[in-house]
Amino acid sequence: MREAQNARNNRAEIVKALSTGEALFLKACAACHTVGEGDKVGPDLAGVAQRRPRDWLIRFMMEPDVMIAGGDPVAVALDRRYKGVTMPNLSLSETDAADILTYLANREKLLAAQQEKARQANTHAAHVGHHIHTDGSVHEHAPEARRR
Ligand code: HEC
Repeated sequence: MREAQNARNNRAEIVKALSTGEALFLKACAACHTVGEGDKVGPDLAGVAQRRPRDWLIRFMMEPDVMIAGGDPVAVALDRRYKGVTMPNLSLSETDAADILTYLANREKLLAAQQEKARQANTHAAHVGHHIHTDGSVHEHAPEARRR
């Protein structure tokens, strides 16, 4: 019983984090970042949770200016790579940053699922093409089309 209750609470918390994270991302980040659609003003954030430790990400989201000024090597290298713009300090709370990470992870899962679907559709199309090629009637029609 207790476990079911916990699972339900966790689920509700995740859903809440997701919607807060999404709203924040769209409002405060989407002008400069995409998730899986390539670099914009700043880097594409797809896969960022695999590239960097969670602590680093939370800290960077909360105070990129402080980290760059403080000489954090990764932050400094990023700032050099994205010339002309430095990510602004958006006064995020730690909860804001964590909610955004939840949203990013979910977006990635959705993207991966879409890509897998597209891959399966392609495989299917290739199969169909193959069947047409081995179909006798298609071969009979082809020379006629060429004689035109
Ligand atoms: C005005 C543009 C701008 C806005 C708004 C912005 N960023 Fe950034 N962001 C950047 C730039 C540029 C970089 C690269 C580092 C630098 O030059 O400061 C960056 C880097 C990052 C990184 C590090 C990426 C990596 O590859 O390690 C993360 C994470 C990030 N931003 C998250 C966010 C989040 C979350 C928000 C919204 C709360 C946000 N950014 C809002 C421009 C922006």
